[in-house]
Amino acid sequence: MRPRAHLHAFRAQFSSFSLYIRPEIGMAIFPEGVYKFFMSDLIIRNLHVSVGETEILKGLDLTIEQGKVQALMGPNGSGKSTLAYTLMGHPNYEVTAGEILFDGQNILDLAPDERSHLGIFLAFQYPVAIPGVTVANFLRTALNGHRKAKDPEDKGIPIPEFRKLLTAKMDHLQMDHSFAARYLNDGFSGGEKKRAEILQMATLEPKIAIMDETDSGLDIDALRNVAEGVDALRSPEFGVLIITHYQRILNYVKPDAVHIMLEGRVVESGGADLALKLEERGYDWIREKYSQKVAA
Ligand SMILES: Nc1ncnc2c1ncn2[C@@H]1O[C@H](COP(=O)(O)OP(=O)(O)OP(=O)(O)O)[C@@H](O)[C@H]1O
Ligand SMILES: [Mg+2]
Repeated sequence: MRPRAHLHAFRAQFSSFSLYIRPEIGMAIFPEGVYKFFMSDLIIRNLHVSVGETEILKGLDLTIEQGKVQALMGPNGSGKSTLAYTLMGHPNYEVTAGEILFDGQNILDLAPDERSHLGIFLAFQYPVAIPGVTVANFLRTALNGHRKAKDPEDKGIPIPEFRKLLTAKMDHLQMDHSFAARYLNDGFSGGEKKRAEILQMATLEPKIAIMDETDSGLDIDALRNVAEGVDALRSPEFGVLIITHYQRILNYVKPDAVHIMLEGRVVESGGADLALKLEERGYDWIREKYSQKVAA
């Protein structure tokens, strides 16, 4: 397998210092702040997005940090999926103001595949079926696309190596191996579609992943399985934004931060307890505090 040094990177905490070991640069001890300098956060500033004539995101600020699990919650229609599609560069969503920075680079002019090659991944709320393309072929094509973007000379992952990789990922997610030979999402149950999204994520190893309601429609065992799959991906080099309506998934993947969206903006941020508070009290207190419509 091609060396993927970042895979081997790991970090241990020593009081205020982080020991951060990367085989390609040897070993170094950095204070937390310095070590953060090397990370690829996705920084969203004052983002305004319109669909047709309608403005949906209205000055959204949010930083999706690498190495952290973040949850994004908010009532139906508050703009969560719009944010996810905009981050991936969906052509229907027009950015009229603001910026999205990744690795210090403004990515707004990049096509969706270029954003994916940089290490940004979106698990869709409604994954589409691709009849005629197997899960295995789809994943191998995607993986080879990533490899070629990094090295134009790359000849693609050898098939035996890819099979080994895919089998390991499927075992890790407790998926039946027959999954790989099926057409992507074609006739998949709701839960199987969500697992296929997690399998893609695990195979492509993004730096930042956005999961749009990956937990909805899952039975209790599948939810735990998917959540544990995400938890297993936790590393200093993986950051995830879990878009969800329910606290349940957060019992299995404890978030480092919870953000709440309302009317196209992130209005409140806090720790894991914020999700519990929402579960208990609903969104009324958020609307009273922040709704422009009520205020107007
Ligand atoms: N392509 C589109 N065409 C027209 N309106 C759109 C489009 N995409 C989003 N909208 C509108 O933007 C608003 C926000 O939608 P979005 O799907 O982002 O909400 P959401 O927070 O993901 O909601 P949910 O929790 O129901 O998934 C909604 O009023 C929606 O109707
Ligand atoms: Mg949505």
